Amino acid sequence: MKGIIFTNFIGYMQSKYSDDVLKNTLKDAGRLTDEGGYTESESYPYEEMFELAGNLAALTGVTLAQTFEDFGQYLFINLAKRFSQFFAPDETLFSFLQKLEDHIHIEVRRKYPDANLPGFTFESLDQNNLRMIYTSERAMSDFGMGMIRGAAIWFKREVFVGKKDITPNHDGTRVEIHVRLLDV
Ligand code: HEM
Repeated sequence: MKGIIFTNFIGYMQSKYSDDVLKNTLKDAGRLTDEGGYTESESYPYEEMFELAGNLAALTGVTLAQTFEDFGQYLFINLAKRFSQFFAPDETLFSFLQKLEDHIHIEVRRKYPDANLPGFTFESLDQNNLRMIYTSERAMSDFGMGMIRGAAIWFKREVFVGKKDITPNHDGTRVEIHVRLLDV
């Protein structure tokens, strides 16, 4: 996982929680504490992100899933401000989401060649309903749901976002995500 996710996670904690929560989340996080974390383009095992989010969840009482989702929402807004060139002027929420696989994450890989990115496929059910299939061995669909919620805020749309794990053993590596526009 790239350092940009780590540095934003620190920013997320600073924006939402006290200095003590930030300090204690990092306290038991192994290398992150010993070596002071990561710069944006450095890579680290994604398990460390789970460790950090797990520490934060334990300290705040917010579930791990909700912690990832809240962070994903925060991150999207930050990334959208920073990479505004990825947003065409006539973009809509659904047109943007459907560009994720062939455009957005491809640009991310150009910038960070060793990025660990998920796969997405899309099915437009009708003009108000989009089905996305998330695939990744990192099982971070809650984070993805948060990113989608962040995108909805960015495009000023009200949405329902639901998900269903479609793996036989429910390991979260393949998840169906349904996005429905509510403000139509
Ligand atoms: C709603 C839109 C988006 C969704 C649903 C989404 C989803 C995800 C997910 C779930 C991951 C975690 C990795 C995994 O699951 O395997 C991820 C990683 C990442 N995404 Fe996206 N993403 C979105 C938009 C963006 C945008 C707009 C950017 C940047 C402009 C971006 C940049 C990244 C980066 C840098 C990573 C980390 C790669 C790494 O650490 O190796 N994403 N994305």
